[in-house]
Amino acid sequence: MRPVRLGLIALAAVASLSVAAACSPGSGETPGPPAPADDFAARRNAMVDAYVSNGDVASPLVLDAMRAVPREEFVLPKDRGRAYREMALAIDAGQTISQPLIVATMTDLLDLEPGERVLEVGTGSGYQAAALAEIVESVYSVEIIPSLASEVASRLDSLGYGGIELKQGDGYFGWEDEAPFDGIIVTAAPDHVPPPLLRQLADGGRMVIPIGPPGAVQTLWLIERRGDEYVRTNQGAVRFVPFTRDRQ
Ligand SMILES: C[S@@+](CC[C@H](N)C(=O)[O-])C[C@H]1O[C@@H](n2cnc3c(N)ncnc32)[C@H](O)[C@@H]1O
Repeated sequence: MRPVRLGLIALAAVASLSVAAACSPGSGETPGPPAPADDFAARRNAMVDAYVSNGDVASPLVLDAMRAVPREEFVLPKDRGRAYREMALAIDAGQTISQPLIVATMTDLLDLEPGERVLEVGTGSGYQAAALAEIVESVYSVEIIPSLASEVASRLDSLGYGGIELKQGDGYFGWEDEAPFDGIIVTAAPDHVPPPLLRQLADGGRMVIPIGPPGAVQTLWLIERRGDEYVRTNQGAVRFVPFTRDRQ
């Protein structure tokens, strides 16, 4: 496994400031004008070129994934013109699509190899799941909000990501039947690490998860499983939407 890159601590913290600013829907910015498809591709490549020149993301697999996924197809129609700005954007049901650099950073931390299996908790728009599917074949994603879970299935299908396995439910419990996973990524912030997710991590697996109180600054953790030991590394400050629970 690659050693954890120290520079990422600062990067995650800086990136989180934009996430924090844009996490609440309607940050006041005027939506940009629509752009033709080739313009979207140019903007997408410029975004990834900036990650390379800033040294933000090291893995060629992650950089290629970020070049491949059309973020404009995952945002609300009114926001297509600003799909490649470094900001989180509102999606339906009061949720957000994360800032692209946070998606790239968390994917980089997962350190996935083709052939590995990954679980995402918090499907949202499906953008993060699509980025994962550019790297590995076996992607599982759980979303708690029923309307988002049904919207995302047809979006991913129509964009050629129909192989992603989706489930509506409380991701606190992971996806027991499909465990173990080499990577687990959580895109909403609980106040503790759900024990079922720890159990479903394969030996040698990596989990990336924000932990902290709702509506405040949280900490992004990389948790690596080594046998019965879980090694936690602080990756800096972030701000994610709250991790919600199904009422039992
Ligand atoms: C920041 S948004 C997700 C961004 C998403 N990964 C994307 O690429 O668009 C967080 C998502 O986590 C979902 N969520 C919150 N708590 C959850 C839980 N217990 N289980 C599954 N999903 C949850 C929210 O409904 C929301 O869609």
